[in-house]
Amino acid sequence: MDKSILNKHYQQAQPNILADVCSKAATMTNVIDLSIGDPDFTTPSPIIEEVMYKAHQGMTHYTDTRGMGSLRAAICNYYAQRYHLCFDRNEVLITTGAEHGMYILLQAILNPGDEVIIPEPCFSPYIDQVKMAGGRPCLVATGKDNGFKISISAISQAITNRTKAIIINSPNNPTGNVLTNSELQSLTKLAEQHDLLLISDEIYADYVMPGHSFIPLAAFAPHNTVTVSGMSKSYAMTGWRIGYLVGPSWIIKAAQQVNDAITFAAPTLSQVGAEYALRHHDELVTPIVGQIKERLRLLEHGLNNLTKFSVSPIGGSIYAFVDVRRTGFGSIEFANKLLEKERVLVVPGNAFGPNGEGFVRVAATQTKGKITEAINRFSQFC
Ligand SMILES: Cc1ncc(COP(=O)(O)O)c(C=O)c1O
Repeated sequence: MDKSILNKHYQQAQPNILADVCSKAATMTNVIDLSIGDPDFTTPSPIIEEVMYKAHQGMTHYTDTRGMGSLRAAICNYYAQRYHLCFDRNEVLITTGAEHGMYILLQAILNPGDEVIIPEPCFSPYIDQVKMAGGRPCLVATGKDNGFKISISAISQAITNRTKAIIINSPNNPTGNVLTNSELQSLTKLAEQHDLLLISDEIYADYVMPGHSFIPLAAFAPHNTVTVSGMSKSYAMTGWRIGYLVGPSWIIKAAQQVNDAITFAAPTLSQVGAEYALRHHDELVTPIVGQIKERLRLLEHGLNNLTKFSVSPIGGSIYAFVDVRRTGFGSIEFANKLLEKERVLVVPGNAFGPNGEGFVRVAATQTKGKITEAINRFSQFC
C-alpha cells in the first residue's frame, strides 16, 4: 500500500507554520515558550476534587449525547445570571472542546459550495473546518493598521447568494480586537437582511481589558446566532476538552446528530468538572483572568517601549499581536530568528491568515518573571 490510499488532500504534507516552528523549538533548551494558548496554571483544585469524588461514586459511564442535563442547565443559568439571556436546555449541546463544537456545527449546516465569511487573521482551524464540511472559506482582511478592526462594508461586499454564515471571534485570537456594540449591531443587521447565521466563538469572553466590554452576540441577534464556547481558557481546563454550542434548538438538534455519529457524548468526568466550574464561575475565574491581564499589560508596555516593535491594541484575549515589520523580517523569518538567537518561541502572524504577515503572536501563558525575561530577549534581538 502507498500514500494513494489517503484522501488526496493528505497525500502531500500540508504546510503548517505553527508546527514547523514548534518542532524546531522542541530540539532546543532554555526556550521561553509563548506559543500556544495554554496557560501555565493547573486547573483549580476544587474542580479536580469534585471530579475525583464523583469518579469514586461511579460517574464513569456515557452521558446523554447532548451532554449532562445538569451541565446544560448550568450553562443556561450562567447566561441568565451574567447576561440576562434566556436559553433552554434544548438549545445547548456539550461538545469535546470548542474546536470540536465548531466542527460539528459546520458539518451540520454546510452543503457543498456554501460560503462562510471569516474575518482574518483568525483561529486557523476555522478555515480547514469549513473546507472539511465541503464549504468555501471567504477570508475578509481586517485592518492591519487600525488594531485589526473588522470592516462591515468589506464583509457586506463578500456576501453572495452562496453565503451561509459569518464566523465572529471576539475577543479575538490572535489580534486581541474586541468588537464594539455598534459593530455587533451592524453584523446583526447584515445577518437579518441576508438571512445568515452568525457563528460567534466566545471562548475568550472573560478576557476583556479595561475600557472594553463583552456582550454575547446572541444578545443582539438571538435568532441568527450560534454561540461556540468552552471551558479551556477561563478555568485553565484546556486538557479536559469540554466546549458547547448554544443556539436555536433545530440547529442544535442537527449538530447533535453529527455529534452522535462521531463521539456520542463528551467525556463524563470532564463534564462534571465543567459543571462545577460554571457554578463557581466568579471565584474560580477572577484570579486566573487577573493574572493574565497583568501579563498582557507587561507585554504591551515592555514591547511598545522597544523601537522595533509595537503591540496591536489589546482589547481582550490572552495574546499580544506584535508588529515586527520594523525589524525588516517577515513573520516566519522573525519567529525563526528570535527562536534561534534568543530562545523565545512565538507564532508567526501569517499562521493565522495572509493578513497576519508582519506580525507575531505572543501568548501570555508564562509567569511575569518569564515574560520579563522574554521582553529582555526581544530587546537584545535587534
Ligand atoms: C478562538 C479559539 N476558539 C477555540 C479554541 C479551542 O478551544 P477548545 O480548547 O475548547 O477546543 C481556541 C484555542 O486556542 C481559540 O483560540
